[in-house]
Amino acid sequence: MSVTVRVPAKVNVQLAVGAARPDGFHDLANVFLAVGLYDEVTVTPSADGLRITCEGPDAGQVPLDRTNLAARAALLLADRYGRSADVHIHIAKDIPVAGGMAGGSADGAGALLACDTLWETDASREELLDICAELGSDVPFSLVGGAALGTGRGERLTPLETGGTFHWVFAMASRGLSTPAVFREFDRLAEGRHVPEPVASQELIAALAKGDADTLAATVTNDLQPAALSLFPELAGTLATGREAGALAALVSGSGPTTAFLVRDPESAAAVQRALAASGTCRSVRTASGPAPGATVTGR
Ligand code: C5P
Repeated sequence: MSVTVRVPAKVNVQLAVGAARPDGFHDLANVFLAVGLYDEVTVTPSADGLRITCEGPDAGQVPLDRTNLAARAALLLADRYGRSADVHIHIAKDIPVAGGMAGGSADGAGALLACDTLWETDASREELLDICAELGSDVPFSLVGGAALGTGRGERLTPLETGGTFHWVFAMASRGLSTPAVFREFDRLAEGRHVPEPVASQELIAALAKGDADTLAATVTNDLQPAALSLFPELAGTLATGREAGALAALVSGSGPTTAFLVRDPESAAAVQRALAASGTCRSVRTASGPAPGATVTGR
């Protein structure tokens, strides 16, 4: 018996970042959109305790110890239900590692839902979301998918309506960026300046609800982008390439370094993808559309 869960990547269409809090985190107004790039997490009972394996182009960069969010998810759920986490967790990884697309969070949410199903724990949605929030700020959204506004450190979710499909191109960079390092650079750049409270854009939320790509393109923002560009200046060339090839908007995804290009339709996506691939400014290029569903059991 094994259970497989499919979990989407995300792009942040708005990421408004407040000043550092006393606990080191930052209050956010974080508008997430799940997109159709997926990791698949399979859990199988194991006679030799908790074990993780991973396959995929970035598999070598994935930690296979208990620091992996998938392992932590299994351990937290097992602990709550007084059982041992004797499972083999296999991750088929398609979401870029350390890319700003919530790949690690996806694996945490996926392992949680898979173990809940395998062990017939029957945890409530609230309980699962609670464990997700304990695992990391972006993990609750990986469980829920679709589109949502995250407040607090990003973990408190309000679902958002979407009135259509948004088409995207994603350029994967030659190396990763550490999320804490990008937030630290944000703090350094903000030194001596007033950082306003993060506020969600009502115009952007309305554009999502209408399925209006032009208005969405005009309103996307990412307050972490200057910090990501400061640590990874070559990303500016990738962003410019996508814009010149006809993208409606070009931005860094979350803490980066993946860059995201909103395009009008699949034809435009193909043109932007070709230009980015030919530019030599990134490692690989993918197209995906959103919203995509959250963590879903696809096999058992
Ligand atoms: O919550 P998560 O473990 O994913 O966060 C990773 C790191 O990103 C945190 O340790 C912190 O440095 C930074 N972070 C932050 N403010 C947030 C979310 C994350 O400073 N709202």
